[in-house]
Amino acid sequence: MSETVKLIVDGREFEYPVIVGSEGERAFDISRLRNETGMITLDSGYGNTGSCCSAITFIDGEKGILRYRGYPIEQLAENSTFVETAYLLLHNELPTADELAVFSRRLNSSSLIHEDMRHFFGAFPNKAHPMGILSTMVASLSAFYPLPDELDLSAEEQFMANLISQVRTIAAFSYKKSIGEPVMYPSIKLKYVENFLNMMFASPVNNYHLDPDIIQAVELFLILHADHEQNCSASTVRMAGSSQANIYSVISAGISALWGPRHGGANQAVIHMLESIHASGGDGREFIARAKQRDSKTRLMGFGHRVYKNFDPRAKILKAACHKLLNKPGISNPLFDIALRLEEAALSDSYFLERNLYPNVDFYSGLILKAIEIPYDMFTVLFAIGRVPGWLSHWREMVHEEGFKISRPRQIYTGAVERNYLPVEQRDKVTR
Ligand code: SDX
Repeated sequence: MSETVKLIVDGREFEYPVIVGSEGERAFDISRLRNETGMITLDSGYGNTGSCCSAITFIDGEKGILRYRGYPIEQLAENSTFVETAYLLLHNELPTADELAVFSRRLNSSSLIHEDMRHFFGAFPNKAHPMGILSTMVASLSAFYPLPDELDLSAEEQFMANLISQVRTIAAFSYKKSIGEPVMYPSIKLKYVENFLNMMFASPVNNYHLDPDIIQAVELFLILHADHEQNCSASTVRMAGSSQANIYSVISAGISALWGPRHGGANQAVIHMLESIHASGGDGREFIARAKQRDSKTRLMGFGHRVYKNFDPRAKILKAACHKLLNKPGISNPLFDIALRLEEAALSDSYFLERNLYPNVDFYSGLILKAIEIPYDMFTVLFAIGRVPGWLSHWREMVHEEGFKISRPRQIYTGAVERNYLPVEQRDKVTR
């Protein structure tokens, strides 16, 4: 007999089945609730509400566990590459050598964007934020790479590879646009991350040295950002995809959701926070005091998480990577010391401990990007490049689910009750 929960509504007892996940998480399925009881649930921010069952990523926020398709993030960070991790997320298995070679070739062969799209960049003002350019250009891919109504597996595989590859090209092109340099095209000779770095930093008159430590740091950054179950942007992708909207516009919606400072925009906000502390000559205690004031808009950026009530395992990995990268000759970053002091001060402060506010993925990630001279407003763009395989995996899992429905939450209405129309000559402030 499978487990159930009982609800008493208006004196009547209702029973609902309990769903148990492969890691023992439990939920009671309320899909019959409104029809049977006339009531709905209300859960602002969905902190207690599961939107789906998913086999892609597992997070245990209390224990600080993160696994992609069952593989601990620490092992993937240590041994994998972004392309291999993207394959794992999309296909549920680590690729064989042949599968990886086919996938890599697919990515490389689809790394160009239509030449007419290249001219779009000239229409953006120089100071346009690259996240706005990225979401616009990704949505525009639908005009240049129209998809058939019915996608067979091969077409699905191809457009997913296109997106993973072209997002990287669009990102690099938008950077070149912002500095007034000609774009650098992707090279068939370079791997995914090498191509990105070369497109970003090489020029027709400047060869860019592909430093293995810097390549490794970007690989690590992208692996750690590749997925994170039902986060705000992945849920946006599922919501937009549930109407069977064009996949390019669905991913563009995910990019837009990620841009917010509460979500992917936090990595850029962390660096600005550290720089303001550095400029003030302080050690961050005054900033922490402000972040603790209930009425202040100040928050300790890079701290706190809706799910992790312990260390974000990605923050631990990135902190170690910062130590390694910043010990390289010629790479230094005074902000790292400030970050270490800030973390130490916050984690000995009851305000943060009582609220389970620990460093999240964004607290150290920006320091790595700054150390390899990625410009600040490209930080969230790199987060987006990393997250595309995760978004596509969620989209694929949803659209292949038997009888998947359009997402359409309910609400509790709190507005005006019924009233009659008044002709404009009868309206005055008194009647309001
Ligand atoms: C990402 O969901 C994901 O998985 C996202 C992500 C991914 O990989 O996709 O992990 C990536 O988005 C990481 C989060 C990056 N954002 C930031 O670093 C911005 C700073 N963090 C906060 O804005 C906040 O912690 C959130 C938005 C991340 C989480 O907010 P919650 O869980 O809704 O917490 P809350 O707003 O309900 O706050 C609970 C309490 C409040 O205080 P009280 O009302 O109890 O007095 O904690 C306080 C908040 O004021 N609080 C903070 C704080 N975060 C929460 N106080 C100071 N500084 C902070 N950072």
